[in-house]
Amino acid sequence: MTPDIFSKQELPTAPLLFLAPMEGVTSYEFRETLCAFAPPDFVATEFIRITGERHTVRSLRRHNQSRLQIQFMAADEKVLQKSILHLKTKGTLKDTDWLDLNVGCPSRRVNSRGAGAALLLEPARLLSFLHSLRSVHPGPLSMKTRIGYQGDEDFPALLNHLSDAPIDFITIHARSKCAHYSGPIHYDCLRLAVETLPFPVIGNGDIWSREDAQAMIDATGVRGLMCGRGVIRNPFLFREIRGGAQPTRQELARFLFSLLTAFQAAPRRYVGRFKEFAGWFSQNELIGRPYFELVKRLESLSDVEEASRAYFKEGVTRSSKKRLSAEEEGFYG
Ligand SMILES: Cc1cc2nc3c(=O)[nH]c(=O)nc-3n(C[C@H](O)[C@H](O)[C@H](O)COP(=O)(O)O)c2cc1C
Repeated sequence: MTPDIFSKQELPTAPLLFLAPMEGVTSYEFRETLCAFAPPDFVATEFIRITGERHTVRSLRRHNQSRLQIQFMAADEKVLQKSILHLKTKGTLKDTDWLDLNVGCPSRRVNSRGAGAALLLEPARLLSFLHSLRSVHPGPLSMKTRIGYQGDEDFPALLNHLSDAPIDFITIHARSKCAHYSGPIHYDCLRLAVETLPFPVIGNGDIWSREDAQAMIDATGVRGLMCGRGVIRNPFLFREIRGGAQPTRQELARFLFSLLTAFQAAPRRYVGRFKEFAGWFSQNELIGRPYFELVKRLESLSDVEEASRAYFKEGVTRSSKKRLSAEEEGFYG
C-alpha cells in the first residue's frame, strides 16, 4: 500500500493547486518567491534528466510552505533506478520525497532517445518503468503525461494500462505530444481518466484565470489543477483561483523585484533565467511587452534591476498620473 499524499496534510478543500514543472523557470528561487506571494499546495522542480552518464544531481532545496514534487526524465528504467538509489545513498533524495516521472516532454531530441512523451508509444515499457521506480521508492510517486502521442485515439488503451500502475496520482496535460502547447484542451479525456483510474487525476493545460480553473473542474471532476504558463504570466493566479483579487501592477512589480533579489544569490547563472521569466511575465497586460524589450539584451542582473526600476517608475507615473516614485509605491520591499 503506497502512501496517500493528499490525506496526510492539512489541505484546503478542492481543487488542490499545483505549480507545473517548467524547465528554465521553476528553480528554487522562483518557487520560493511564488510561495511568499501566492502559494499553491504543491510546487515542482524542473525536470531532472538522467542519462547513462549522469548520476549526479545538485542538492535539492525543499520548501516549508508547499510540498515539493521532484520530476525525473529518463529513457532507461535501470539507469533511473540506479540513479535514485545512488541519490538516496548520498542523502540527496529521501524515501519520503515525492518523485514524478516525465511522460510528456515533446522535444524531438528527448523523444528520439526514448524519453518523455516517447514512453506513450510503448505503454508496456511505461508500466515497467513505473514498477521499477516503485521498487526503489516507497514514498509518493506520480507521473505527468499527455493524452497521446499523435492524437487522443490511444488514450482509452493507455488508461487501461495505467489502471494497475503503482502510482499515487497522475497529472494529465490534456493535449497530445504533437499538439505541443496549443490547440484545444480535451476535457473529455480528463473526464474519462477521472472515471477510469483508481487514483486521483490532476488536470493541466491552459488555465489562465479563475474561470478557466472552474471550467476544468466543472467539466471533468479532476481532484486538482496544475498551472504553468498562467503562473509565470500572473504569479498571483493561485490566489485568484482561490477566490482572491487579481493582482495590481504594483503587486506584480513587487513579485518581480523579489525574484530579482532571490536571483542575486548567483547573478551570473540567473540572468538568463530572469530573461526567460521576463518573456512570459511581460505578456501580462499590466506589465507589457516593452518591459521584455528593455531587459532582453542586458547582460547583468544589476543592469536588469536598474532598468526595471526605471520602467516601473515611469509606468506607474504614466498610468496613474501621479508623481509617485517607485520607492514610495513600495515596489522594492
Ligand atoms: C518553459 C516551459 C518549460 C516546461 N518544462 C517542463 C518540465 O520540465 N517538465 C514537464 O513535465 N513539463 C514541462 N513543461 C510543460 C508544463 O509543465 C505544462 O504541462 C504545460 O505548459 C501546459 O500547462 P499550462 O498551459 O498551464 O502552461 C514546460 C512548459 C513550459 C512552457
